[in-house]
Formats: sequence, C-alpha cells, structure tokens
Amino acid sequence: MVVGAPAGCGVKALVLCGGAGSRLRPLTHTSAKQLVPVANKPILFYGLEAIAEAGIVDVGIIVGDTRREVMAAVGDGAEWGLRVTYIRQDEPLGLAHCVLIARDFLGEDDFLMYLGDNLLEDRLADVVAGFAAERAQLEGAPAAMILLRKVLDARQFGVAVLDADRRVTRLVEKPPEPPSDLAMVGIYLFDARVHEAVASIGPSGRGELEITDAIQWLVDAGHRVTAREITGWWIDTGKKDPLLEANRLLLEELEPRIEGIVDEASSIEGRVVIEAGASIVRSTVRGPAVIGAGVRVTDSFVGPFTAIGAGCEITGSEIDHSVVLEGSRIVDAGRIVDSLLGREVAVVRGEGRRGATGLMLGDHSRVELA
Ligand code: G1P
Repeated sequence: MVVGAPAGCGVKALVLCGGAGSRLRPLTHTSAKQLVPVANKPILFYGLEAIAEAGIVDVGIIVGDTRREVMAAVGDGAEWGLRVTYIRQDEPLGLAHCVLIARDFLGEDDFLMYLGDNLLEDRLADVVAGFAAERAQLEGAPAAMILLRKVLDARQFGVAVLDADRRVTRLVEKPPEPPSDLAMVGIYLFDARVHEAVASIGPSGRGELEITDAIQWLVDAGHRVTAREITGWWIDTGKKDPLLEANRLLLEELEPRIEGIVDEASSIEGRVVIEAGASIVRSTVRGPAVIGAGVRVTDSFVGPFTAIGAGCEITGSEIDHSVVLEGSRIVDAGRIVDSLLGREVAVVRGEGRRGATGLMLGDHSRVELA
C-alpha cells in the first residue's frame, strides 16, 4: 500500500453480475437482476459508486447471459472514474468459479469481491481500509476478510462460526439448521492465497464452486480469515420483498428536488424527487418517493416508498410501497401496494368487464388479487 493513498489503492474489485436471477422472474427474463432500479437507480450502480469511493480503480465485472445489458449500462466505467474489464462466465458455475476465471485480471493483487445484487449501508471504504490495516500487520496477515450480519433466518445464506478471538472457524452454505445467526454478506476481501483455494475445491451439492467452501479451505489450510460484523442494513436484493425494502431504505436518503411541473391542485408532501419533464396534475405525491423524467401523474395518489421510472403514466389510481420501471401505465387501477412492475407494463381498468379480470402475463408473473 502506498502511504497517504486511499486504502483501495493497489486493490482490485471483482464484481459479479452473472446469474440467472430466477427469484426475480419475470423481470429477469429480459433484464439483469443487478440492473433492476431501486429509488430509480440500478442496484449495481450503488456498488460501483461505493467501490470508487473506496479508492479502487481496476474493476473486473463477471458477466453471463445478460452481458450486453450490463456492458451497455456500465460501459468502460469512466462515469465513476473506474477502469472496467469484462470477464465472461459461460455458465453460472458458482462464486468461486468467478475467481477462477478472473485469475489473469486479478494477478497477485488483493481484491474485493462484490456480489452485484448486494446493497450495504456501511461504508465500503471503511471495510476496505479495515482489511488494509489488518494486512499491514507483520505477523499472521489474514488471507481473507468476510463481512457478517446477524439475521433472523440464516438458512438462505452462507453462515459463519467464530471462535473467542473472532476468527472464522467454520462456514456452511445455506444450512437447514444454522450453527449461528451470522450470515455471510456478499462482500469479501482476499489476498492471492484464494487462488489456490478455488482451484482445490470441488462442486457443491448444487453443482457450483462455492466461495464459502474456498474460504473454509483457507481456514483448514491454517490461514487466518477474519470477520467484520456489520450493524447497518444489508440487503441481498434478489427477490421482490428485499428489493422493495432496499427501495424503502434508499428513498429515505433522497435529497428532495422538484424539476418537473406541479399544478396548483396538487400537493407534494415530504421527501420527494420529481425529475425534469414530469407533470403532476390534481394529484398528491407523499414521500419518500421519486417520480422519473417525463412521468405523468393525473388524478392519483403516489404514496410513500414508491419509485416511478421514466415515462410512466399514472391516472386515476393510488400506489405506494412499490417500484415501477420505465414506460408503464397504471390507469383507473384502484390501489396498488407492495408491487414490482417491469418495463412497459399496463395495469388498466377494462371497459365493460363487470367484475372480471383480464390478464396477459409473462412466464413466472405473479398477481395477488384484492
Ligand atoms: C451467495 C453466497 C452466500 C451469501 C449470499 C449473500 O448466495 O453463496 O454465502 O450469504 O450470496 O448475498 P446466493 O445469493 O448466490 O444464493
């Protein structure tokens, strides 16, 4: 590390943007799960901003089937002051497999591995600085640092067991009976010793090379693995409800701003962003909420914790606690809550339907009727 330079100096980042996103279908039939917006910004961009803020410049992004969309959104990374290299993973063979195929990019450098659908309240810059400080120790410098968060139900995550000195002793991936309540956050720091680990393990029961197994390999080989417990919120956004929760948390940090047009019969309450070209007519927008560019809200109520993507139309309806992607229409639809709508979706009241519901839904769609 260069003295006086930010902690991330000389550290690379490996950002994982492959994966099928099966738990966010049907949105992920056509889009990458890492690019679904929360508070009208793609999830992945929050991670890239935090990486840049940590002083990291060289970023490898693992891409799979959705690579065209990811590459179009991120480009060469210059927008964040990053230098992005894309690394293609032909099949989703696991997180440790991502490290394996990134070998040339990573070289012998320390790196941060970041799952592109994770969102973290804690500052990533502090996490990277914490690892750098531990690595600077003369003896027993850790080979890895994992982030842990206490959760109510650890069965859906990697789970860690620590000894009295808070060293990691055991890691298990998605255990039916978790040995602790400490879930592994999808953010890890490694030195070059991890390359031997990922090359030494075999596939798990689900046929993937698990990063959890690679870290256990490091522990078993006698290398020090440290843990940092975070207390701020952490969300793995891969499903609808956590995604809405992330939207809720991030909207609360909004800087209010009104660039669109609000007529005199409308009211804007609380923390609200109204982007340029949006118009609010005879309606109420109660924040925290964000209304994207060019959106038309007429005779409607947009309630708290709602993000409406660019170019949507909301007429004669009420919506709150929801995320709506670009170009969707909600017309005379009654009240919509806790919902995630994709691009160019139409939720409209049909003429002369007399109590019947007409649907045209893509594969894996889900409708909860009132
Ligand atoms: C992965 C890891 C798991 C970790 C989780 C965090 O799981 O395998 O150990 O707790 O990310 O987001 P996945 O979401 O890929 O099933």
